[in-house]
Amino acid sequence: MSSHPSQISAAATTDRLPVTLPRLTEMKRLGDPIVMVTAYDFPSARAAEAAGVDMVLVGDSGAMTVLGYPSTVAVETDELLVLAKAVRRGLRTPFLVGDLPFGSYEVSDGQAIQTALRFVKEAGCDAVKLEGGGPASAARARAVVGAGIPVMGHVGLTPQTATALGGYRAQGKTAGAAARIADEAIALQDAGCFSIVFEAIPSDLAELLMVHIQIPVIGIGAGPAVDGQVLVFHDLLGIREGLGARFVKRYADLQDDMAAGVGEFAGDVRSRRYPLPEHGYAIDPSELDAFRQHLS
Ligand code: KIV
Repeated sequence: MSSHPSQISAAATTDRLPVTLPRLTEMKRLGDPIVMVTAYDFPSARAAEAAGVDMVLVGDSGAMTVLGYPSTVAVETDELLVLAKAVRRGLRTPFLVGDLPFGSYEVSDGQAIQTALRFVKEAGCDAVKLEGGGPASAARARAVVGAGIPVMGHVGLTPQTATALGGYRAQGKTAGAAARIADEAIALQDAGCFSIVFEAIPSDLAELLMVHIQIPVIGIGAGPAVDGQVLVFHDLLGIREGLGARFVKRYADLQDDMAAGVGEFAGDVRSRRYPLPEHGYAIDPSELDAFRQHLS
């Protein structure tokens, strides 16, 4: 490994205070947009830290972005914990949220508390996120909050149950569906969640809901009326094949850059343009002579 943690742009972050729950509440009160991004490893965490984002989510989207699963459904708690620990090592100031994977909290309040405790104790997360706002999810959120762990809710498109929702598509597009999302968001707020994610719902619906939600709302495909925005790290930096969802704005094309870089390396090796003398180590000529004699 060629770089040391202290060499990676720590300077930009040394004067910022860690983001806390009261700070997030204050940001909502002041109307300061809250910036959240996902991260899954040490370098993505360092990028989030250097950029000064407010919140980092170790999303179960990591199942797809870094682990190569076809959806978020299969990923195990142990796998996400490895990612969360690496992210924790790279962060100092953003508020860190760990995503509870599918199957790790639905069975009982006890199961939800035990999984949430692992994210806090083993990975050093400040909070956990769980999907859905139906009676079961709201009850789990209440139980985890009751155990002393801050919980972020997530309504609208909830990828863990995308099959039941009819696929990866915008939610809340009829009055009935919008009312269900409203009920879920309010149930999560009443359960004690400190924040809620609205994913892939009409902007007008999000705006109407904001009147009823007193906790910070972070949107992803929910328009501009919410308190903050989150994007998946790999989507916003173009570390993926294909364009992704309608709400993704791409700020770089790193997948192409990575492929081009590796391709150039391969070309250099095959044409013997790499390594050059400056990439090698020297030995004192007298030592080399001595070694030659030793060989003969
Ligand atoms: O897993 C994830 O990345 C998420 C965000 C899209 C909010 O849940």
